[in-house]
Amino acid sequence: MEKSVFERLLSLETPVYYYDMDLLKETVDSLAETAAAHGVKVHYAVKTNNEERIMRYIASKGLGADCVSGNEIAWAVHCGFAPESIVYAGVGKTDKELNSALLAGIGAFNCESPEELRILDELAGRCGRKARVCLRINPDIDAHTHHYITTGLEENKFGISRFAFEEVVGIVKSSENLIFTGLHFHIGSQITSVREIFAVEVARAEEIVGWFESRGLRVDNIDLGGGLGIDYEDPDGNPVPDFKGWIETVSTFRRRPDQILHIEPGRSIAAQCGSLLSRVVYVKKGETKDTVILDAGMNNLIRPALYGAYHKVENLSAGFLRKDAPLHSYDVAGPVCESADVFGTKRLLPETVRGDLVAIRSAGAYGSVMSSRYNMRGDAPAVFSDEI
Ligand code: LLP
Repeated sequence: MEKSVFERLLSLETPVYYYDMDLLKETVDSLAETAAAHGVKVHYAVKTNNEERIMRYIASKGLGADCVSGNEIAWAVHCGFAPESIVYAGVGKTDKELNSALLAGIGAFNCESPEELRILDELAGRCGRKARVCLRINPDIDAHTHHYITTGLEENKFGISRFAFEEVVGIVKSSENLIFTGLHFHIGSQITSVREIFAVEVARAEEIVGWFESRGLRVDNIDLGGGLGIDYEDPDGNPVPDFKGWIETVSTFRRRPDQILHIEPGRSIAAQCGSLLSRVVYVKKGETKDTVILDAGMNNLIRPALYGAYHKVENLSAGFLRKDAPLHSYDVAGPVCESADVFGTKRLLPETVRGDLVAIRSAGAYGSVMSSRYNMRGDAPAVFSDEI
């Protein structure tokens, strides 16, 4: 970050989410180019960050949307995503949500159970619409990531397991209201062994696509989900994730010219452009350690408390104004009445004082969207680099 940017940040009330729009653009453009070069269609996972400006930029680059609720679908359409570019996953789609998605004319319902297929068939018949259906498969793959964000294992609630394959083939074949369009997989999030893990997904997907085609269903679309990891340790060293490694790997899927590959990135698009900015309220001296208490808490960014996730913490004030400050080890905590409200322990920071401006980095994905009003605290609003 340049000093002039830091000086403008100083006037902001905290906590606040700051988005570097140049980095967002560089990231989206790099993804869009790499995907286009390999003929892969991209659907942005809206759950990651639904700021209107971010959504609108992504939509303007021709990307589709991956939604998981009726509200996300309505918001994606509002932000400029074409309805037919929207794919809709989720294990608990309600009748109301299915009906509104049918009326919106979305691209694909990624159905997760035989029961959901039967209900969708009935609702589509009632409103005289055809539902384009992709089957979300549980590929039973270990993505070797945090167990809360692994989704493709047999024991997870997501997707259709092998034992139900014959049943779903029967349902889609006999339905007049469902148009079978393909298969959907998603194995987890924050995957860092990119070429290794996604190659396993590709191999499993090839095998399962082959099985469905042997049952007489044409699999025209293969959606391999999201999951590309980012570098939380070194956001400045690796601001743009390894789209090349990911897309080259998924592109090894052996497909016919009429088969289309899709991916659904979220974190890899939005994480690095966002920082949660906060001020130091107190530096609490302890017997064995010192704790920096911030005005941002777990209600603004829950990832460290919920997953033990690492986010780099940077003292911007010390970095720009007190360059020679000695390094010191601190725990960094928020003000919420929960012991879990800690952003990091034993962090080496320049000597920190009350009023310092601090950045919690890589917070653009699953940050603001997962915030709450716990302790009756306020929301951290968003500011964008080109608006301050
Ligand atoms: N597609 C589906 C079906 C998904 O469930 C997800 C994420 C994505 C795509 C996007 O995955 P990504 O590219 O962002 O890895 N709150 C957690 C992450 C939960 C991910 C949920 N599903 C976190 O903060 O790490």
